[in-house]
Amino acid sequence: MPKISIIYASGMGRTRQMAEAIANGAKTIDGVDVLLKDAYDASIEDVKDADAVVLGGSTYNYKLIKSMDPFLKQLEKLDLKDKIGVAFGSYGWSGESIPTLISRMKSFGMKVIEPGTIAIQVPDAATIEKCFRLGRTVAQGLTA
Ligand SMILES: Cc1cc2nc3c(=O)[nH]c(=O)nc-3n(C[C@H](O)[C@H](O)[C@H](O)COP(=O)(O)O)c2cc1C
Repeated sequence: MPKISIIYASGMGRTRQMAEAIANGAKTIDGVDVLLKDAYDASIEDVKDADAVVLGGSTYNYKLIKSMDPFLKQLEKLDLKDKIGVAFGSYGWSGESIPTLISRMKSFGMKVIEPGTIAIQVPDAATIEKCFRLGRTVAQGLTA
């Protein structure tokens, strides 16, 4: 069964809300295994057999949230070549997290769908809907 792994790091729960909406959208497609995890609890086991890896992180002090770093470091050990990658996250004003996640995934040889999906501060209903549709679309793509 195709698998989509959604891994996120979120300080105040805003990027987590986006992650949950992406997972809910993906779960509407039958025959796709959907995994949702906080980066703090995630390991390479969670992505090694995934076809699509959806990574979320917010921006703090002009950088990707630090709690994503250990997980990204672990990913360097895996062969992620040709897996599909998508980035998302909430930010306030500068939003470095999304380009950082995209460039890290590209450096792993992943096929990254751009642009990522963003929220400014607390995701509103339209952004949550966008995330839901993102999850649905990626999952649909895996079953096509
Ligand atoms: C201490 C602090 C530093 C922040 N630094 C940045 C920043 O440099 N650039 C930016 O775009 N947003 C910044 N933000 C805004 C957060 O990215 C934004 O509030 C986001 O919604 C947090 O999402 P999260 O709950 O998923 O962590 C900062 C927020 C705080 C509290």
